Amino acid sequence: MLIALLPGDGIGPEVIAEAKRVLDALGLDGLSYEEALVGGAAYKAAGHPLPAATLDLAKRADAILFGAVGDPDCDALERHLRPEQAILGLRKELELFANLRPASLFPELADESALRPEIAKQIDMVIVRELNGDVYFGEKGMRETDGGKREGYDIMSYNEDEVCRIAHVGFKTAMARGKKLCSVDKANVLETSQLWRDVVIETAAEYPEVELTHMYVDNAAMQLVRNPGQFDVIVTGNLFGDILSDQASMCAGSIGLLPSAALDNGGKGLYEPIHGSAPDIAGQGKANPLATILSAAMMLRYSLDQADAAGRIEAAVAKALADGARSFDLGGSMTTSEMGDAVISALT
Ligand code: IPM
Ligand code: MG
Repeated sequence: MLIALLPGDGIGPEVIAEAKRVLDALGLDGLSYEEALVGGAAYKAAGHPLPAATLDLAKRADAILFGAVGDPDCDALERHLRPEQAILGLRKELELFANLRPASLFPELADESALRPEIAKQIDMVIVRELNGDVYFGEKGMRETDGGKREGYDIMSYNEDEVCRIAHVGFKTAMARGKKLCSVDKANVLETSQLWRDVVIETAAEYPEVELTHMYVDNAAMQLVRNPGQFDVIVTGNLFGDILSDQASMCAGSIGLLPSAALDNGGKGLYEPIHGSAPDIAGQGKANPLATILSAAMMLRYSLDQADAAGRIEAAVAKALADGARSFDLGGSMTTSEMGDAVISALT
């Protein structure tokens, strides 16, 4: 099995290095690795955030472990050359349409949550975010109004097939958990969302055991901090899922803790922490590698058929935290590699 390592920008290389050390420490047979540049690092070295060689590696690989992209040096580039286009391009080119973003609280981190501990303890959910459509991929540009004013635009759309396939992922995810699915949209204002809601309701006929509810995204944002325990699985579009998953991460203690999987229809996936490149702390050993280490566990489970090894990583992360391992974001002073060490020594 070939794993593509794409560290990217900012803290990406630091957190990927720790995930790789944890994978090595598992001593699994049959895994090989190839690394490639992506994001701003690739632009600086090769003139493009997603060079052909990187895309080729991603296509050849059985799974991709991705760090983060984003580099302030590149903010003034034309949009198609910006680092973020690399991850968007990979998601689109490889048809990684289904993004699973689990959020639950490690009990010892209840005090780190932005919520009161008794509320934070309730959080145990998966956000299923659509990744190939929505306002992210619609026609966009800058134009001039009749009055000579600058105007930016981004077209939001979803077709029924796109909604249907992510709805199935939402229902299946719910079937494997608490059988509750909340579809989040803005159907009171957006036609895109009206179609979304209609198609989710049609798809529900195939999953009679799942209790389906609908929520407007503004209400969902509010409910997520008021009573996160009410959610089992949320299914939502690309933009709303982006926003709600960052919010969920702080409910669970830190954005440095949440892993994610971006899956195609055949089991291939790209695995990445939900956090960004954090250029403000890059290179200082302050990044929390746990989200990336947990992403590696998801990779073992979903793409490499190694559920036991995935469970070992997850148990080791839980044990390291229970034993007091704390990076800066968790109010501690352990460096990125010390956090990696803590996980490795907790592996059984
Ligand atoms: C994420 C990130 C990306 C997104 C950025 C880096 C393009 O915020 O994965 O959540 O918006 O999807
Ligand atoms: Mg995001």
